[in-house]
Amino acid sequence: MTNVADKTTKTLEQLGVHSPGDLAALFAELKSGFDNEVAQASTPDAWKELRDRWLGRKRGLMTYAKDHWLLSASAALKPEAGKQLNALRAHVEAALEERRKQLESGATGAAADALDLTLPGLQHRAGVRHILTQTKEEICGIFARLGFSTVEGPEVETDYYNFEALNIPEHHPARDMWDTLYLDHTAGALPDPEASGRGKKSDPNSLLLLRTHTSPMQIRVMEKQPPPVRIVVPGKVYRHDNPDASHSFMFHQVEGLAVDRDITFCDLKGVFDFFLREFFGPKTRTRFVPSYFPFTEPSADIHASCHVCSGSGCRVCKFTGWIEMCGAGMVHPAVYDYVGYNAAEVSGFAFGMGLDRFAMLKYGIDDIQLFFQNDVRFLHQFRR
Ligand code: FA5
Repeated sequence: MTNVADKTTKTLEQLGVHSPGDLAALFAELKSGFDNEVAQASTPDAWKELRDRWLGRKRGLMTYAKDHWLLSASAALKPEAGKQLNALRAHVEAALEERRKQLESGATGAAADALDLTLPGLQHRAGVRHILTQTKEEICGIFARLGFSTVEGPEVETDYYNFEALNIPEHHPARDMWDTLYLDHTAGALPDPEASGRGKKSDPNSLLLLRTHTSPMQIRVMEKQPPPVRIVVPGKVYRHDNPDASHSFMFHQVEGLAVDRDITFCDLKGVFDFFLREFFGPKTRTRFVPSYFPFTEPSADIHASCHVCSGSGCRVCKFTGWIEMCGAGMVHPAVYDYVGYNAAEVSGFAFGMGLDRFAMLKYGIDDIQLFFQNDVRFLHQFRR
């Protein structure tokens, strides 16, 4: 209790108030005590406590003031005491109501006081696009200059698009090249692998899987449009691979497909040479080595010299000096049969590159896992 509040428990006589001037000073003191307290009531609970303290019917300060300052006032002071008391009550009620509204709207003096314009501003660190996103955009941008448009496709695929239509029939050993993650999409059980029609395009019972490569988009695009075709397809792919410095169970590929009349392996080499020089600059060495994919003939793997050891051998390149970056080749004629193209009239090349490895090579990153650990200290390095 403030001193002035204490005074409401004493009569005017006891307080030595004998003139209208003393009385006005006493009420002014009480009013100023109230004004201080109302300014400090910054929560709804504090407001309620304040209201009860001042306007409580039995123990409120206004009741005490009435009992001790008005009722026991001398006849000479009584009219003035009544006038002062009414004015103060009106002030207390109005100020409490005003404060209630402020608290409800959040515009209290406390909130206003909290805004200190002299404090230094808060700095918001702008985010950075993930380095894999930047790399994807750069790769697609280079191919766009060569007339390739960018398309995307589903990550959950059917057996037909991921394998069958890419000339990889059901029991073909080449399916072992991709350690596939199948989806249990029939609420309880995988479709019977031996059921008839499995792997057929329109089979509703078809096995669903997480695509192991972006190559299914070759089929989806050729099914929809006649030649010529020139596309790149960036996207996530999934394999049951053991994670290490250059392998992840989820990674990114960029598929490429060009089909037209008279396209040859030379076009593939020319396009790739251009792309690699644009992307890496003139220093990185690359080589084509013979390979096998059921949907290309002939097929090749494209290797780049290891960026970590410059070719002398390290854990990233598995001590070979080279890193496999891309599978490629001329589209196999059997694939054209699946999409209704005439293999006698058209030819084309396709490639599928490991986007993550391109980013590793370009930016000197020695562990693919860093891309997916989301350590902002790593990610923030690639601000452009
Ligand atoms: C394929 O996936 C073929 N679809 C590529 C292709 C497309 C060939 C069109 C011919 C025509 P491969 O399995 O080799 O090929 O994978 C392609 C690239 O993905 C590899 O060169 C490598 O850079 C990258 N890669 C493969 N496995 C992983 C992995 N576990 N983690 C990270 N990158 C990987």
